[in-house]
Amino acid sequence: MTAPHLAPLVVALPKGRLADQTLELFQTAGLSLPAGDNGRKLILSSADASLHYVLAKPADVPTYVEYGAADLGVCGLDTLRESRRQVYEPLLLPFGHCRLSLCGPSDRPDTPLRYASQPRVATKYPNLTADFFRVRGVNAEIITLSGSVELGPLVGLADLIVDLVETGNTLRANGLVEVRVIMETQAVLIANRAAYHLKNGAIQQVIGRLRAATGHGGSEQPDEQALSKRLPYPE
Ligand code: PRP
Repeated sequence: MTAPHLAPLVVALPKGRLADQTLELFQTAGLSLPAGDNGRKLILSSADASLHYVLAKPADVPTYVEYGAADLGVCGLDTLRESRRQVYEPLLLPFGHCRLSLCGPSDRPDTPLRYASQPRVATKYPNLTADFFRVRGVNAEIITLSGSVELGPLVGLADLIVDLVETGNTLRANGLVEVRVIMETQAVLIANRAAYHLKNGAIQQVIGRLRAATGHGGSEQPDEQALSKRLPYPE
């Protein structure tokens, strides 16, 4: 990549399940990656010093970007919506596809949502889960967990869960089924609103390279109407 003449852009990268594909995409796009083994360093400079990378917990990426600690970031749409952070979403990225679903025990697949006056729902997504039940007038008790949410119904902690489903293997292995798809999700490039304008040249260069590398897989920023069509809240 030709090094921009301006100060390096700061990019918040998610550790964990999106990390490898994010780095692969950046490499394919010809964006300079950190050189060598950086051990447990959390801020890395690219080999050509055009980019600085901040390695963040995925759920924190929108926070770094909203506050301008990072100019750009990569996270899941699920994480972004849950965070309620105000950022631009210039490019959907062609990986990390899965869905956020309401799930329950397989022996009660048709249980209506109002089967109990106050179902207990375990999730890592308390805001999206609260929204889902609020618009249906269901007074759900939401129990926030940090992981292994599928345990909830198995140990009697919760009646239902809201969690990511990719292959469905974790649900099947634990006797659970999807009851409703709440949203389809995938990785997305996000941008700090001020930086998007103030550093537009450098940011557009990164977006252009990523768009070219995604071929037909990347798409423009979704407008809110298109987004709402991807939120199939049935019934
Ligand atoms: C995610 C998610 C599900 C699982 C879904 O968990 O929370 O548990 O993957 O994938 P599957 O449909 O392909 O089985 P993750 O591995 O990120 O760990 P966590 O549960 O500890 O968050």
